[in-house]
Amino acid sequence: MRSPHAWQTLAVLLLSRVSASPLALRTSPTPRSSETNAPSSVFISDPASLVNLFIGTTNGGHVFPGATLPHGMAKVGMDTDSPGNQAGYDADPQFNVTGFSQLHDDGTGGGVSLSLFKVFPFASCGDTDEFETCATSVNGRKTLRKVLANGSPDDAAEPGYFSTNLSTDIRVELTATRRTAIHRYTFPDSSVNPRLVVDITDDGQQSMTDPVLTIDPDTGRITGGSSFEASFGPGRYRAYTCVDFQGQGFTLDQPTEHGTWLQDAPIKQSVSLHQQYVSFLNQLGGLLTFNPNLNGTTTILARVGVSFISPEQACANAEEEIPDFDFDSVRSSARSQWNELLGRIQVDPQGVDSETVSLFYSSLYRTHISPADYTGENPKWNSSEPYYDSFYCNWDTFRTLYPLMSLHDGANFARIVRGMINIQQHEGWLPECRGATAKQYIQGGSNGDPILGEFFVKFSEQAASLNVSADDLYTALLADAEDQPPNWDLEGRQVNIWKSLGWIPSDVWESSGTNTKQVSRTLEYAFGDFAISQVAKIMGKKSDGDKYAQRAGNFINVWNPNTTVPGRPDIVGMMQPRFENGTFNFTDPRHCSVNDPLQSTCFLDARNVDGFYESSPLVYSQFVPQDIAKLVELQGGSEKFISRLNFLFDEHYFDETDEPSQQIPFMYHYANAPGLSIQTSRQVISQFFNTSVNGLPGNDDSGAMGSYVAFYLAGLYPVPATQQYLLGSPWFPQISFHNPTLGTTTTIKANGFRGNPVNGTGGNVFVKSVTIDGVLSKSNCFLEWDVFQKGSTVELELTDDISVTCGEGDGALPPSLSTGGFD
Ligand SMILES: *[C@@H]1O[C@H](CO)[C@@H](O)[C@H](O)[C@H]1NC(C)=O
Ligand SMILES: *[C@@H]1O[C@H](CO)[C@@H](O)[C@H](O)[C@H]1NC(C)=O
Ligand SMILES: *[C@@H]1O[C@H](CO)[C@@H](O)[C@H](O)[C@H]1NC(C)=O
Ligand SMILES: *[C@@H]1O[C@H](CO)[C@@H](O)[C@H](O)[C@H]1NC(C)=O
Ligand SMILES: *[C@@H]1O[C@H](CO)[C@@H](O)[C@H](O)[C@H]1NC(C)=O
Ligand SMILES: *[C@@H]1O[C@H](CO)[C@@H](O)[C@H](O)[C@H]1NC(C)=O
Ligand SMILES: *[C@@H]1O[C@H](CO)[C@@H](O)[C@H](O)[C@H]1NC(C)=O
Ligand SMILES: *[C@@H]1O[C@H](CO)[C@@H](O)[C@H](O)[C@H]1NC(C)=O
Ligand SMILES: *[C@@H]1O[C@H](CO)[C@@H](O)[C@H](O)[C@H]1NC(C)=O
Ligand SMILES: *[C@@H]1O[C@H](CO)[C@@H](O)[C@H](O)[C@H]1NC(C)=O
Repeated sequence: MRSPHAWQTLAVLLLSRVSASPLALRTSPTPRSSETNAPSSVFISDPASLVNLFIGTTNGGHVFPGATLPHGMAKVGMDTDSPGNQAGYDADPQFNVTGFSQLHDDGTGGGVSLSLFKVFPFASCGDTDEFETCATSVNGRKTLRKVLANGSPDDAAEPGYFSTNLSTDIRVELTATRRTAIHRYTFPDSSVNPRLVVDITDDGQQSMTDPVLTIDPDTGRITGGSSFEASFGPGRYRAYTCVDFQGQGFTLDQPTEHGTWLQDAPIKQSVSLHQQYVSFLNQLGGLLTFNPNLNGTTTILARVGVSFISPEQACANAEEEIPDFDFDSVRSSARSQWNELLGRIQVDPQGVDSETVSLFYSSLYRTHISPADYTGENPKWNSSEPYYDSFYCNWDTFRTLYPLMSLHDGANFARIVRGMINIQQHEGWLPECRGATAKQYIQGGSNGDPILGEFFVKFSEQAASLNVSADDLYTALLADAEDQPPNWDLEGRQVNIWKSLGWIPSDVWESSGTNTKQVSRTLEYAFGDFAISQVAKIMGKKSDGDKYAQRAGNFINVWNPNTTVPGRPDIVGMMQPRFENGTFNFTDPRHCSVNDPLQSTCFLDARNVDGFYESSPLVYSQFVPQDIAKLVELQGGSEKFISRLNFLFDEHYFDETDEPSQQIPFMYHYANAPGLSIQTSRQVISQFFNTSVNGLPGNDDSGAMGSYVAFYLAGLYPVPATQQYLLGSPWFPQISFHNPTLGTTTTIKANGFRGNPVNGTGGNVFVKSVTIDGVLSKSNCFLEWDVFQKGSTVELELTDDISVTCGEGDGALPPSLSTGGFD
């Protein structure tokens, strides 16, 4: 049972600003009592109350803290004029609010993403409060938020809900269904002419062309749309909105004034855009004035439908999803959907500080913002299959996001996979970095392959009932693996030369894509082919399985055994650029690390000739998840492998801000030193990840960082497209995963849990032995998928001895291709 003290700790958290919720915890038997697994002593019934949406909302995290359903299309949130407003919001209160827009992404780089159709309230306008004096442009209208005594802005959020108080004394609240947002504006009593602006042109990057706008003076309905530039690619897209208004607790009647506006000039009575202005003015929209509620508070609801098809569809979506403008029921339905999803993973918070519990559920929450369910909103073709968008980018998410979905959310995973296959069927290749219905720039290889591989390895038996066609899935994988696209910057791979040579040479200039990132692409193509071999084997395609497993071994073609780190002759052997004739070029292993003497960045740039993307050769020299045993051998054996890992951490080559480093802390497992993995992974969390607004060291990258942190706190790390999860120890005495797709629950119990060590160092957290349903496991270092598939109780015996091992016998180390694993 939980102690009263633990109750108190959690109660403090529940009342924190980001949650206005009732009790999250109930000491009760699990409601899944029909299942055989032992229930947790505590059931977290309202995990939404433990989610802090503001983590990483300043200093470059680019996290979206607004309101959305799990994988919802509508992501309604506040937009600020900060430089880091890729997801609209910035938690630094010095930045002004420019509006409340309907669609966003989470944690991306690139330009501001989807900050479309801002609504903005005026309590009054100018000195005279006349319609024409309203400063309607972004710069004219922008307003600060109220600031609390502690210096933070007066903003609050919980899953499915966001609110703020503006310096104009207007309170703004937001919630959403899948394709529709509803806003609630509460005006001050002094507001005689409450007004609302609808901006149809500002997307945060001033890319608008071809706007249309219509105002219905009788109902106040505003419909419109424009074309915009995608955030991270050459493509453009068109989007539409439909905004309706209603009073809360009073009858709004028709607007008392209406008109369009151009920059800071509202034009009374005008009901559509003057096309002659459109060509040279880039800020346009509609403005409405309403009667205040003379009998009480003036609260006006704005229901904002969105569509990528047409304004009519935006209206239809809104009417269907929020017919009665019931803000509170939309909010509570969103919260229940989040609670159902988040509650599938239960942690026992006893003896764990509330910050860690909050970090876990907040990270899990961010795993489910993207990709987004745009079903019915694909402007490019009609299909009855689901359509998902905002894959931004697979390069970020293939490592941890989908393997986390496998553990508790097979149904959404299946829908995403169906959407990906459908895109391949219509466009030829799987989506990689699709956003706003456009192809965006690929960061590395074809990383959709390990995502489909992950799905099929985990759910091949359920695929048919989840309506995923195994044949179509395999065909889609083969397109990436075999067919060179017209432009590999946007889809597919530079596959012809990959097939003929077995690496991407740095001196062959093909014209259908950028000749850059050749080494990191080689490594990722090899891993993509590994994923395909895994699928082929399950499907009984033995020769394909062998063929792609062999191609998965091509990583070795860019391994130069003689390259050393300047000043460290003992660190020898490195992934390096290689010419077509087989000789190697040289890229300084420190390149684009914090220790790079040239301080290069390795971001996407056609001029980069170094061969690597967003990480150093030292980091990429660890990226062979399919064959780490071979890496250990190449690096000179276990002892040298460990000392190289230590070097990466001691000298800060490990890069906590970027995905290629994510597996590195767990790689001591492969040198039979799992205690070092456990300690290092805990140190990484302690040092770099926390619940403050700057608690993310880099971009969240569509939940890639969120899912990574959730895994680390769960004491697991996935090897995508395999049956294995690397095992550490959870930050909780117990964690359980309920998987509705399989109808099973797996509980991991940490016997001897005595709390989490300060800074992640030492502690009674090392795994001495593992039993699965009472039977001693062959390995302390990984769990087979089978454990989760059938639903098991896993018990870890903890010790404070860091020198634990994976075990003695064959099969104690996690599998690798070259040692016969994965068959
Ligand atoms: C926000 O707006 C206020 C009032 O217009 C202005 O004084 C301030 O400089 C703005 N802040 C930023 C960061 O632009
Ligand atoms: C805004 O003001 C309202 C009314 O005073 C208050 O209830 C609320 O907590 C404030 N903060 C937010 C973020 O809504
Ligand atoms: C004003 O509010 C009172 C009490 O809620 C109600 O009886 C009355 O009908 C309202 N008047 C109008 C004009 O809405
Ligand atoms: C989809 O079907 C609708 C209704 O038949 C049609 O109007 C529309 O043009 C189709 N869209 C595409 C992209 O084919
Ligand atoms: C699979 O497709 C069938 C037939 O269209 C449908 O009845 C069923 O609901 C679908 N199942 C899932 C999980 O989508
Ligand atoms: C590495 O060095 C050895 C010994 O000097 C040499 O035989 C070998 O060709 C070198 N390999 C490469 C790839 O340069
Ligand atoms: C291999 O190719 C590189 C770059 O094209 C060239 O500089 C080098 O001389 C070639 N080496 C041999 C042995 O042909
Ligand atoms: C070899 O590497 C250097 C350093 O990155 C680079 O400047 C040069 O262009 C490369 N050579 C070729 C042929 O790619
Ligand atoms: C929280 O994490 C950020 C990002 O890694 C870091 O800069 C900051 O120092 C951390 N704060 C605390 C209190 O640990
Ligand atoms: C670790 O924690 C101790 C005790 O709180 C503190 O004194 C020390 O500075 C921390 N070390 C690091 C590297 O954060």
